[in-house]
Formats: sequence, C-alpha cells, structure tokens
Amino acid sequence: MKEDIHNLHFDFLLLFAFLFASTAFSSSEYSLISSNGGLSDSEARYIRQRQLLYYRDEFGDRGENVSVDPSLVFENPRIKNAYIALQAWKQAILSDPLNLTGDWVGSGVCDYTVVFCSPALDDPSIRTVAGIDLNHGDIAGYLPEELGLLVDIALFHINSNRFCGTVPHKFVNLKLLFELDLSNNRFAGRFPEVVLRLPSLKFLDIRFNEFEGKIPRELFDKDLDAIFINHNRFAFDLPENLGNSPVSVIVLANNKFHGCVPASLGNMSETLNEIILMNNGFRSCLPVEIGLLKDLTVLDVSFNQLMGPLTDAIGGMMSLEQLNVAHNMLSGKIPVSICSLPNLQNFTYSYNFFTGEAPVCLNLPDLDDRRNCLPARPAQRSAKQCKTFLSRPVDCSAFRCSPFVPFLPPPPPPSPPMPVPVPSPPVVVLSPPPPVYSPVSPPPPFFRLLQSSVLQ
Ligand SMILES: *[C@@H]1O[C@H](CO)[C@@H](O)[C@H](O)[C@H]1NC(C)=O
Ligand SMILES: *[C@@H]1O[C@H](CO)[C@@H](O)[C@H](O)[C@H]1NC(C)=O
Ligand SMILES: *[C@@H]1O[C@H](CO)[C@@H](O)[C@H](O)[C@H]1NC(C)=O
Ligand SMILES: *[C@@H]1O[C@H](CO)[C@@H](O)[C@H](O)[C@H]1NC(C)=O
Repeated sequence: MKEDIHNLHFDFLLLFAFLFASTAFSSSEYSLISSNGGLSDSEARYIRQRQLLYYRDEFGDRGENVSVDPSLVFENPRIKNAYIALQAWKQAILSDPLNLTGDWVGSGVCDYTVVFCSPALDDPSIRTVAGIDLNHGDIAGYLPEELGLLVDIALFHINSNRFCGTVPHKFVNLKLLFELDLSNNRFAGRFPEVVLRLPSLKFLDIRFNEFEGKIPRELFDKDLDAIFINHNRFAFDLPENLGNSPVSVIVLANNKFHGCVPASLGNMSETLNEIILMNNGFRSCLPVEIGLLKDLTVLDVSFNQLMGPLTDAIGGMMSLEQLNVAHNMLSGKIPVSICSLPNLQNFTYSYNFFTGEAPVCLNLPDLDDRRNCLPARPAQRSAKQCKTFLSRPVDCSAFRCSPFVPFLPPPPPPSPPMPVPVPSPPVVVLSPPPPVYSPVSPPPPFFRLLQSSVLQ
C-alpha cells in the first residue's frame, strides 16, 4: 500500500514537474520565475490555474481542453468525436516512450497508430473507430472521460501500460464494447462498476492492477465469456450466484477472496473450461458439486485454506488436464477416480495432509505429492506434524457453506459452533509472478473482432 501511494505521489510529482518545466522554459513564461528561486505570486497563481485545469469535470476527474481547429475536415461526425476523444487522451498522457501517439495529429483518425476503423454497424457507408490496441505501450497517463465519445468501439486493449486512476464513467456510452483489456496497469479504487452496464461486453480483463474492495454480484449474472480479475486487492466472500456466470474462463487468483468455494460452481457445467482460484483465503471443503464440471480442463485451488477430503466426485471431471490443489490443508486418500481421469497430465497436491494415494497416481506424467503424510513416499511431513493435524477431524458442515440446490431436506442438526480445528495456516510465500501468467492468451485483436458476433 505504501508503495502505491508512493507511486501515485510520484505520478503527481511528475505532472507537477512537467507543468513546472513547461512554465520555466517557454520564453513567454520565463518572467514568472522569481530570481530568488521561490515561487512568485504570479507563478503560484499560474500553477494554481493549471492545476485547476486538471481537476474539473462533473465527476471530479481531471479535465482536458480539446479545441477543434475549424480548418480540419472530418469524414463524418463520429470521426470528429473520435478526434476529440483521442486528443483528450493525448493530453492525458504524461509519457509515451515508444512514441505511439506521436502521429495522433490531424483529422485522419483512422490512420493514427494503434487505432482501427471499420464500417459502422448501423451505417456501413461510413467508417468509425472500432478498436484501439495500445498493448505493451509503456505509456503513463490516465483515461479521460472523453473516451466515452468512441461510441462504436468494440475493442479497447491497453494492457501493459502505466495508466492510473479509474475507469471513466462515460464508458457507459460504449454500447458495442466487446473486449475490455485494462490488465497490467495502475488502475486503483473500487471495482469499475461501469463495466456492468456495457451490454455487449464478453471479455473483461482487469488483472494486475490495484483494484480493491468487493466484487459486485451482478458481475456473475452478466453474459460474459471471460473474467480475469487476478492480481488485484479484492477482498470478498464469493457470492452464491457465481454459478450463474456463463463464462468459459474465470481467474480470481492472487486476491484476498475468502469464505466458501461456492457450491453453485456445479451450475457451470455446460460452459466452464478453466477456473483459477489460487492464492486467496478460501476456507471450506471442496464442494462435491465441483465434480459436475465435465468440460473443465484446468482447476487450480492451490494456496488457500481448503480442508477435508478430495472428493471422489472430481473423478467426474472428464476433461480435466491440470489439477492443482497444493498448499492447502486437505486430507484423506487421493481417490483412484481422479488419477484415472483420461486427460489428466499434471496433478499437484503437495503441501497438504493426504494419507494415501491410489497407485495409479504414481503413473501420471507430472505429479507432485511432496509434504503430505503419505507412507513410503519421499519428502513427506514429519510423523509428529501429521499426527497433530490428523488427530483433529474436519467437519465440513461447520463452514456453513450454502448448498447448490436451494431446496434440500432440512439441514442436519447444527454442529456445535466450535472453531474449526486447524494448525497454523501454511506459510504462503508467493513472489508475484511476472504479468504473463495467462492461462488463456487472448488472440490478437482483430481475430477476435472478426469472430465476434458484434460484427455479424
Ligand atoms: C480551453 O482553452 C481555451 C483556449 O486555450 C480557453 O479559451 C478556454 O477557456 C478553455 N476552456 C476551459 C473550459 O478551460
Ligand atoms: C514521434 O512521432 C512523430 C510522428 O510519427 C514524429 O514526428 C516525432 O519526431 C516522433 N518523436 C520522437 C521523439 O521520436
Ligand atoms: C444456474 O445458472 C442459470 C443460468 O445459467 C441460472 O438461471 C440459475 O439461476 C443458476 N442456478 C443456480 C442455483 O445458481
Ligand atoms: C504442473 O503444474 C504445476 C503447478 O501448477 C506447475 O508448477 C508445473 O510447472 C506443471 N508442470 C508442467 C510440466 O506443466
């Protein structure tokens, strides 16, 4: 946190230095600098005014001031609006080391680097801006509200830059936005709720930022195909309606989610291919409903505080290729049904308290069973550690997780509200991986754009 404040502060310092430098070195402004090196009154006034320019607009965001040269000729009014949006954005950019916006000059918006035009959906006789792909631009700045003028945009990709601040409220006007990739930037604050109001959105990628707080439950009711929110600071119990989400991929890794792994996951059996929950604070047993996910190829729940057995039901996940349950507090025996899954290649269950594994497990191409309580296997926990942990049985009902089917027979008599017996949680030492952890790398923008139903 301290570092972020520092970074933010640093950006403002940069901004200030930038303003100051332009004040100091443009000849007309030179007289503003007083000879003793302090701020003269007029200089202070000037800087105050300049700062005001950066703090107006109805949402309290920094404002820009784009004026359109009347001599410019635009091919249609939407291109003119795009010009205003992009010029405002250019003003909001403090550093562009690759000079990607260097040619954002003049009315030929469709020729600007990283800007893509195509015929408008509602009027194919005119061109409009359909996509922006600024990935890996290393650009520092923020997103101005004027970007809401890009009403025809289907693709907005700005991953791996240094954009900070928040997502503009006016993004609500981007009714055709299909893919939003803000990953690996410096966005902060609460979940950008505006994305919930984008009717065409299918692909949401905000991973590797500094977002914090809760995830609105509406996210999981939305008709999305992919949700990447890993490597932020979200802290939340996952809501029960997770199972409503029709996504094929969801990555929640490296946040501070806690509570139960929702049993409603079982409802995603027709659509879900990959789910990554690693390195959060989930604390429950694995719901048996997880076994319904017959199309799932990747399941990673490692580095949480999951307890209880690995359910035999996981043997129903017929498509499973990668299974990682390492660094939890799971116990019991590894069922033969899991290790016999036809496509399973990599099964990692190290750093748990398993006491047995089916012999067929040892034939898997890639297996990690270290640091368990497995008899006659190398690199296991000490007998004392195993005895201490295993002497206290786990009661899965004590987590009080909601079942998937809402109308089950009345629950069994309440178990005593004793704290769940656990030894000290495993020490999670996970250095942040470089921002390339990408279970599915999105195809290049126009491939997706062409695929997208938006353009059909
Ligand atoms: C924008 O800039 C013009 C000319 O530089 C100035 O006259 C105008 O007052 C500015 N508008 C705002 C809202 O700051
Ligand atoms: C940036 O690009 C523009 C247009 O392509 C060019 O005129 C300008 O000289 C470039 N600036 C730098 C610093 O390379
Ligand atoms: C299962 O998902 C469907 C939508 O795919 C939703 O209508 C339904 O409410 C979900 N049921 C539960 C129990 O989550
Ligand atoms: C198997 O999975 C583990 C944990 O996800 C990973 O560290 C390892 O590299 C994987 N092995 C292969 C061959 O992919």
